[in-house]
Amino acid sequence: MKKIPGFALFIAALLCTNVAVYAQAKLSIGNETAQQKKQRMKWWTDARFGMFIHWGLYALPARHEWVRNHEHITNETYQKYFDEFNPDHFEPKKWAKEAKAAGMKYAVLTTKHHEGFCLFDSKYTDYKAPNTGAKRDLVKEYVDAFRAEGIKIGFYYSLIDWHHPDFPVDKYHPLRPTDENDSAAYAVLNKGRDMANYRKYLYNQVTELLSNYGKIDILWLDFSYPEKFGKGKNDWDAVNLLKQIRKLQPGIIVDNRLNLEDYTDGADFVTPEQVSPKELESYKGKVWETCQTFSGSWGYFRDEDTWKTHRQLLDLLITSASNGGNLILNVGPTARGEFDYRATNALDSLSQWMHANSNAIYSCTFAPETYAVPGNDKLTYNPVTRRLYVHLFDYPADGAVTLKGYKGKIKYAQFLHDDSELQYKVQGDDIILSVPQKKPGYEIPVVELVLQ
Ligand code: GLC
Repeated sequence: MKKIPGFALFIAALLCTNVAVYAQAKLSIGNETAQQKKQRMKWWTDARFGMFIHWGLYALPARHEWVRNHEHITNETYQKYFDEFNPDHFEPKKWAKEAKAAGMKYAVLTTKHHEGFCLFDSKYTDYKAPNTGAKRDLVKEYVDAFRAEGIKIGFYYSLIDWHHPDFPVDKYHPLRPTDENDSAAYAVLNKGRDMANYRKYLYNQVTELLSNYGKIDILWLDFSYPEKFGKGKNDWDAVNLLKQIRKLQPGIIVDNRLNLEDYTDGADFVTPEQVSPKELESYKGKVWETCQTFSGSWGYFRDEDTWKTHRQLLDLLITSASNGGNLILNVGPTARGEFDYRATNALDSLSQWMHANSNAIYSCTFAPETYAVPGNDKLTYNPVTRRLYVHLFDYPADGAVTLKGYKGKIKYAQFLHDDSELQYKVQGDDIILSVPQKKPGYEIPVVELVLQ
């Protein structure tokens, strides 16, 4: 007697699960296979390290790229920055050389940020660099300079636009009502604004960007906030936009900020922003890129003083590779068009480290579970060359690095920066590596282990 209800319950549970699975089944936009996607993304996953560049009129106020939002600045008041914009030190060849020296394999430039100003020559607006003191298409010069250095080309394009007359006022808009939850106030503010017109503008500009500059490797659309008084996929007509993007640039890699989470192929990678190395560990197994600033702001912020140290930057880079992700590090050039000296100094230090240790970053990912991580160090692993890298976060004062359970697993050990042999002995199941007591001249030296 007792068995029947149990069995019935089991069937019911089975049905529910199926219904749930059915309900959650994701839609798809294209028909690329997982293998094809992996192939398309290969250069990017191998690259591991890129440069973000946030540059626009907000470099003039120099107090955050969200200054219009923070200070409720109208188009009229913001106009002075457009009138003053004249980047006489803009030499993207220099930018490209710095990026290359630091080991960055791709770059992403803000062609338009939330302020609406276009660095490129768009035929759909007058609010663009060619109509300022710059008198030319700055995106084109960026593309030419970076491409010449062999760096892959990415465009950031803001879905949000605080300048366009048809972009409806919402919770982030500089003109938002004092009571940000007052529907009636939004209705008054939005009289005469037509999202359909803006949607067309957005579609046309993305089409221009992907038609006029040759092969574009990455598109970074930013961002959706589909909650009340926000905007999401329907506002952008995101599905059709993405179809157009893939039609124009079949190989392109697109971020995840279009609000297409319901689709299996609505994004190529996730974008944890300004998160800690600890938090990055939770992304292991996903396809991801963390975007990080040198200081607290994306756009040039003169008085911002929370610059990350060389060690913190290295930690982000190593932790990214060691959890199978990428790091895109942001520079906010000044209004005159050059990198701030603090960014240049940070890039110089990174270039020294990368010159010596990039083999422990490029094409690397997390190590197989069988290799224990010594202390606070971090491991990266190149599955093709089968080399394991121990990033010595805690350089041992006694000159001994214990590799627990490594007996029989390695056949050679050396420092990566100079290929100098590191001798070792077996102790029980462990390997004791002997490193010089004087730490080599790198903030985080790397041991290269040739695996059996
Ligand atoms: C954000 C911000 C922004 C920055 C970006 C970079 O969403 O709005 O200013 O461009 O993320 O990830």
